[in-house]
Amino acid sequence: MHTGITLNWDRDDPKAVYSRQLSEYPLYWDKDANSWVAYSYKYCNAILSNPDAHIPEPVITTDSLLNEKVRLLVGNFARLSNGDRHTEARNAAMMVYKYMQSVSVPQLMETLLKDINPNSGFNYVEVIGKKLPVLVILKGFGFSDHECKYVTQHIATLVKIMTSVKDEDTTAINAVVDEFYAISERYIIANRLAIDHNLTTENCIQQFICNLVGLFIQSYDAGRALLCNTLLNTLDPDRGQGLNTPGSYRNLVIETLRLDAPVHNTRRIAVNDILMGDQVIKASQKILITIAAANLDPRVFKNPLLFDPSRSNNAEHLTFGLGEHACLAKHLMIDIAAEACSYLKNKYPHISIPQQEFKYEPQANVRMIRELMVKLS
Ligand code: HEM
Repeated sequence: MHTGITLNWDRDDPKAVYSRQLSEYPLYWDKDANSWVAYSYKYCNAILSNPDAHIPEPVITTDSLLNEKVRLLVGNFARLSNGDRHTEARNAAMMVYKYMQSVSVPQLMETLLKDINPNSGFNYVEVIGKKLPVLVILKGFGFSDHECKYVTQHIATLVKIMTSVKDEDTTAINAVVDEFYAISERYIIANRLAIDHNLTTENCIQQFICNLVGLFIQSYDAGRALLCNTLLNTLDPDRGQGLNTPGSYRNLVIETLRLDAPVHNTRRIAVNDILMGDQVIKASQKILITIAAANLDPRVFKNPLLFDPSRSNNAEHLTFGLGEHACLAKHLMIDIAAEACSYLKNKYPHISIPQQEFKYEPQANVRMIRELMVKLS
């Protein structure tokens, strides 16, 4: 039986798998994967909120060729830490995040599309998806054009540190991480961030630097997937009806986050026994939290498979996580996606997606379209 722990996005229908599991096994022990899988809203919510469910340790083996800076980053990211270390790292990420100014998404879209011929198709994933979210962050911090260019050109290499790294990639990763670290260090020092917050120890300064790099990383995959899914729904003749105000675009994005969640799951490991209903998740057992399935739970969302931006509780989706690890940038990301679609729809009323079928990146937790061809007129 297919449990949904290793879905093949090109072949499997995640909504069908999740709907079945939701009704039959809201919390499932997958023997082959040696992991619990939570599907229901109740269990996903409970595990995300449980202090005994920790983010698994990142895997960097001691004989790995990855350099010190990579270890430093991974060791300090809010996204990957637990307990007191997480509190410190999240505080650092939030303090850095507060320095970001708002930037004009339409202006960035204009720049990214300036060389596109409206009469020929272009790949939205490459031109907008991989660049817009990280540029909003970079410009929001006031990075120079030169630094923006370096970051957007090399971010695909940087994000590899979040997965298990192949030996042949280590030289490129080490070089890119050194440069990202240096760019972020210059920023933190030039803007006196650590001094403003009265942080004098090297450790605190390093946390600021690492979590600034962390913001670039977090924006890349999920941000791109959300931009693509939102555009698909905007241009769908049924789903995109009645889009005329900023609020209507935001509602469409929120319903996209629920029904077409870019991030499908996140992982935890139990550090103590956790009681879930009448089942016990034992200490040291792994847990896959299927947030995209929780979003389809009929006990929480009426007619869950229906795309309905006016449903009153759509914002209760779990796509940005929950609790102490909840996404820092959820409001920013909703605004970026809503403004990007509104800009395209207003500026190019004949915009279309000629493609019928989509292929997905083979990433286990984010369902990302590999190529999305768009025609502006
Ligand atoms: C500008 C783009 C983004 C930035 C800067 C960002 C930043 C972050 C950060 C710093 C965290 C870690 C919080 C912590 O552990 O204390 C986080 C967590 C998370 N983010 Fe985002 N994020 C972005 C976009 C997105 C998008 C588009 C999605 C989904 C559609 C998303 C989903 C999540 C989820 C699910 C978590 C929690 C993971 C967990 O608890 O295991 N993020 N984000």
